[in-house]
Amino acid sequence: MRLYVTGGTGLVGSNIIRLARERGNEIIASQYGPEPEWQVDYELDPLDLADHDAIRASIRRYKPDVVIHCAAILDQLFMFANRELCWSLMVDGTRAIAEACRDIGARLVFVSSDWVFDGRVDLVDESSPPNPVNFYGVMKAASERDLGALDGLNYGVGRLAGVYGLNYAAPSLARMENGLGFDFSVYVIYRLAAGLPAEVWTGPKVNDVAHPTLASDCADMLLRLAQHDGNGLFHCFGSEAINRIDLAHQIATAFEADPALIMPTRTDEAVLDEMRHIGIPYRTRMSTEHTAKALGRRAFNVKEGLAAFRKEWDEFWN
Ligand SMILES: NC(=O)c1ccc[n+]([C@@H]2O[C@H](COP(=O)([O-])OP(=O)(O)OC[C@H]3O[C@@H](n4cnc5c(N)ncnc54)[C@H](OP(=O)(O)O)[C@@H]3O)[C@@H](O)[C@H]2O)c1
Repeated sequence: MRLYVTGGTGLVGSNIIRLARERGNEIIASQYGPEPEWQVDYELDPLDLADHDAIRASIRRYKPDVVIHCAAILDQLFMFANRELCWSLMVDGTRAIAEACRDIGARLVFVSSDWVFDGRVDLVDESSPPNPVNFYGVMKAASERDLGALDGLNYGVGRLAGVYGLNYAAPSLARMENGLGFDFSVYVIYRLAAGLPAEVWTGPKVNDVAHPTLASDCADMLLRLAQHDGNGLFHCFGSEAINRIDLAHQIATAFEADPALIMPTRTDEAVLDEMRHIGIPYRTRMSTEHTAKALGRRAFNVKEGLAAFRKEWDEFWN
């Protein structure tokens, strides 16, 4: 397969490239910021999602069989403050990619998020109506809708949630800060592995229950989606939901760290103030059944994901 990945220096994109190369696929990756820190033995094409003509030209030039579109802005405060710019990058940019894919007959896998949901209804599935509570979720939901409305497009939307893991293309960019979402997993892993206390914010305004998803595992789900022939929405995230404190304890078990280092803490006041206008879904607990059937496997549960991550961690750092 000739695979074009956007956001290849990101956490998810780097894991897709790594796995797809191991499986003998030909890779083209767009590059936006700094050059990848690993050895690049694939095509790299500089691309800014703001430049829609360049997006179309790049996809037409490389003529991939499949595009996996991971590139996105994830900074909620930046998005909130720069809505026109982010809409142009995230929604119009995704539409430009979709149009180019349709024109050359490539399949598009668009990476979306569990934050298209409000976190107030349990076990929502791929057919449940979205109800985003922040601008990021609104943009993801808008793109999902756009793809469905584009006649002749061969596409799958792979929703992810709380992704953790190693960014193989840029290990120095590891997200090691505490957070309101489920990206706090990496912070906890680093802190515990270093024998340092890990504060786990317990609200208000945290995504308390979600589906932690190992980046290399969702890379496999997204590659399966790339080769699937069905159009529509797919839940490619970890198959088990868990709350933040219990997850931190499972991390301690997987990394043989001291659980006494886990400190349930009230959400930082300065962060709460910064985020006061931005909604965070509280309990995103979803069904993965339909996707597991369609793609031939369910993604890892919490224990499986952490065990696999421990192995990756040890192999990478030792
Ligand atoms: N992480 C999660 O917990 C999570 C959960 C649900 C869904 N998702 C979705 O999964 C996808 C991948 O997320 P991730 O965690 O891998 O994010 P990430 O590590 O921040 O990677 C984002 C990528 O987008 C690229 N990018 C940013 N702005 C760009 C622009 N203007 N033009 C072109 N490329 C640009 C970045 O390039 P540079 O590195 O060069 O800046 C980076 O490669 C996203 O669509 C995200 O919404 C993630």
